[in-house]
Amino acid sequence: MTTTRATVTPGNAKPPALTAEDLVVEFPAGRGRTVHAVSGVSLQVEAGETLGILGESGCGKSTVGRSLMQLPSPDSGTVRLGGTALTGLAPEELRRARARMQIIMQDPVSALNPRRKVKDLVWEGLSIWGSGGDARDQDTRIDTALRDVGLDPATVRERRPHELSGGQCQRVCIARALLLDPEVLICDEPVSSLDVSVQAQILNLLETATRKRGLSMVFIAHDVSVVKNISDRVLVMYLGKVCEVLPSDGMQHEAAHPYTRLLLASLPEAQRGPGGAGDPAPPAGPAAELPSPLNPPSGCRFRTRCPMATGRCSDEEPPLREIRPGHRIACHHAEPRRNHP
Ligand SMILES: Nc1ncnc2c1ncn2[C@@H]1O[C@H](COP(=O)(O)OP(=O)(O)OP(=O)(O)O)[C@@H](O)[C@H]1O
Ligand SMILES: [Mg+2]
Repeated sequence: MTTTRATVTPGNAKPPALTAEDLVVEFPAGRGRTVHAVSGVSLQVEAGETLGILGESGCGKSTVGRSLMQLPSPDSGTVRLGGTALTGLAPEELRRARARMQIIMQDPVSALNPRRKVKDLVWEGLSIWGSGGDARDQDTRIDTALRDVGLDPATVRERRPHELSGGQCQRVCIARALLLDPEVLICDEPVSSLDVSVQAQILNLLETATRKRGLSMVFIAHDVSVVKNISDRVLVMYLGKVCEVLPSDGMQHEAAHPYTRLLLASLPEAQRGPGGAGDPAPPAGPAAELPSPLNPPSGCRFRTRCPMATGRCSDEEPPLREIRPGHRIACHHAEPRRNHP
């Protein structure tokens, strides 16, 4: 976002909306092998803040999003929603707590039951979560929820998903999630399946809705410019680990991790933000492909592609260290870059 919201200014007394510590998720892959999908990811989302999660396909973004929702719970690590620890809750308590955190998925059409009408799909959330939806004002609330996401109730409320466009289906998913009045919205590639023109509309809608409600959002995508534009802070993942966390404003110039700089270098110049292209990114290392999460490299997982790698990088895993307030990197060699106005 171009302006950081008032709710995330230093000295904000509100507790974080969502905190995850040391999440680990592994999947069995047959023949005794293990997919190390997420290996010790920690994050914090402040009240009213949007945290973007960025990284190449397969780096574990969706697995982090799902484990925040406890769908399923991580193999280890903790998740706190406001003051509530979600990990370790009994099933019924977890069900209730989950209603406070809603997820928007990549494919809106398959997220919606094809046999149900829009009006029922929008109300479905409240009835499933048992949050006490009042049947008397049901129609009014459904219509308001539809209008809030830019849909005309008279046109769409009796339609089924196949009679709507992908963008309209995503609006229905957003209406359904917002009707539950969540504290945190997790969006996993919410615009990747949509046309570019519709993408911008849905992003505007999410930005307006979260700002109006003071809602916190985790926004997952592999598109650098989308994540950079909608987020207050960006967390960059590589092969199941966090490699950098930094404010999105000025990210082009301040990103210090060689992987983040490689991602930013892939942006067309016009999208790189004020001040031009910044310093050139370091050239990519020898391996251009993401190594397998079945057998991640020792030490720093990025070292096989990193132009700065030394022997230390294969021997020692770099801790996530703060290089200036609000900016952390996991790299033995990268240093803070120059400040820009
Ligand atoms: N249920 C599963 N069983 C086995 N492996 C899985 C499962 N879910 C994810 N993985 C593996 O975990 C790793 C991380 O997957 P994940 O879907 O979280 O990545 P991603 O960053 O969201 O990728 P994309 O950008 O393509 O959506 C991948 O190697 C993936 O193949
Ligand atoms: Mg994904």
